Amino acid sequence: MAGSVLDTSSADEARARLADRLLAGRRITSPAVEAAFRRVPRHLFATDGISVDVAYADDVVITRRGPDGRATSSISAPWLQAYTLEQAGLRPGARVLEIGSGGYNAALIADVVGPDGTVVTVDIDADVTDRARTGLDRAGYRQVTVVHGDGEYGHQPDAPYDAIIVTVETPEVAPAWLDQLAPAGALLVPLRIRGMTRCLTLRRHEDHLLATAALQCGFVPMQGDGRHPTRRLALRGDDIVMHLDDTSTEVNRDALAAALHTPRLHAWSPVTIAMSDGSSFESLHLWLASQPRPFGTLAVNRERTPAGLVDPQDRFVCPTLLTADSFAYLAMRKLDDTTWQFGAHGFGPDAHTLTTDMLDLLTVWEHDHRHGPGPTITVHPTGMHLPESDGPQLFVTRRHTTIAVTWPAPEQPR
Ligand SMILES: C[S@@+](CC[C@H](N)C(=O)[O-])C[C@H]1O[C@@H](n2cnc3c(N)ncnc32)[C@H](O)[C@@H]1O
Repeated sequence: MAGSVLDTSSADEARARLADRLLAGRRITSPAVEAAFRRVPRHLFATDGISVDVAYADDVVITRRGPDGRATSSISAPWLQAYTLEQAGLRPGARVLEIGSGGYNAALIADVVGPDGTVVTVDIDADVTDRARTGLDRAGYRQVTVVHGDGEYGHQPDAPYDAIIVTVETPEVAPAWLDQLAPAGALLVPLRIRGMTRCLTLRRHEDHLLATAALQCGFVPMQGDGRHPTRRLALRGDDIVMHLDDTSTEVNRDALAAALHTPRLHAWSPVTIAMSDGSSFESLHLWLASQPRPFGTLAVNRERTPAGLVDPQDRFVCPTLLTADSFAYLAMRKLDDTTWQFGAHGFGPDAHTLTTDMLDLLTVWEHDHRHGPGPTITVHPTGMHLPESDGPQLFVTRRHTTIAVTWPAPEQPR
């Protein structure tokens, strides 16, 4: 039976089990982060009606929704919080700024940096900062400063920070974060790159920021002055939606919606994956996004979509090649108990060309990039020179910065 939020004995047990799972999965790798997860009572930061079981499960806990029903605030998934804390490399006495509050993650940070540290957490939503303040006081982390404001501007009074941990999806690195980051500081940021979000660990390198780690992740989108949502093309109500992150990509929504009524073209590549060996294909999505051609990501509500209509490899963020009136998304099918095969499903007049292109890109990824180190991701303030390379490159130009994704040049001819 699910325990109530005030049932402290079951909360203590659930918290211990959560820390054990994070250790076993190697999301926690340091004693300080482990101690924080064992101490901070996550359930005290949940909203009314959320049980202890849900509060200490492995998933995100939604705490607030906008008028359209979409989540605007949450307590992030514990594995992602553990990952960012480990990546930030926090030491006792460190100064940390968190963008996007809720209280729980700020309490974890405060626990790690200890009584000599400084923790400031900023949220744009007064309901969130009120709840964060209450939770932090109840949990015994009164030293955390909670600020109601637009995190786009950071929090200058306590700068510089040894780490800035952004917990909201952002299209770019705000100038204030760069200004307020100490010279050797770490900026943890869920950066959206052509519709796909990667939690980047960024550090200063010459005149730009260099990602020393990148992990696929999902966060609620940024509000306020830094707000820059993807363009949403509803192709079948809200159940099948194409997201476009480039202003330059021109497509016809009605034509794409009509394409859904044409027969689905299937094309299968020689590229397979064995699910049992823990192989990752995280770089594949970014590879498909890195091509100099119109690109979108498809999101599908499987429960509300007729069987057989669309079946993308990823139902939230599926890489999709586009023309004005046609599209082809990444697909995957099971070959046997352990092996899956990559391919494409295409719709519309250009379905054949787009599915063929997707197969070619899969083959290049397999040959040149699948087993390599993956791309180098850098962030360049506007006006700074951009990296040059013999390898494939993607540049995403935002208001204040350009994001560069640079792939290694192939070593052997194909
Ligand atoms: C995923 S939640 C934060 C999770 C939190 N750090 C935790 O303890 O798990 C993201 C938060 O970012 C906030 N947010 C969105 N845009 C913001 C902005 N421009 N400045 C500050 N906060 C913002 C939302 O209100 C939301 O509460």
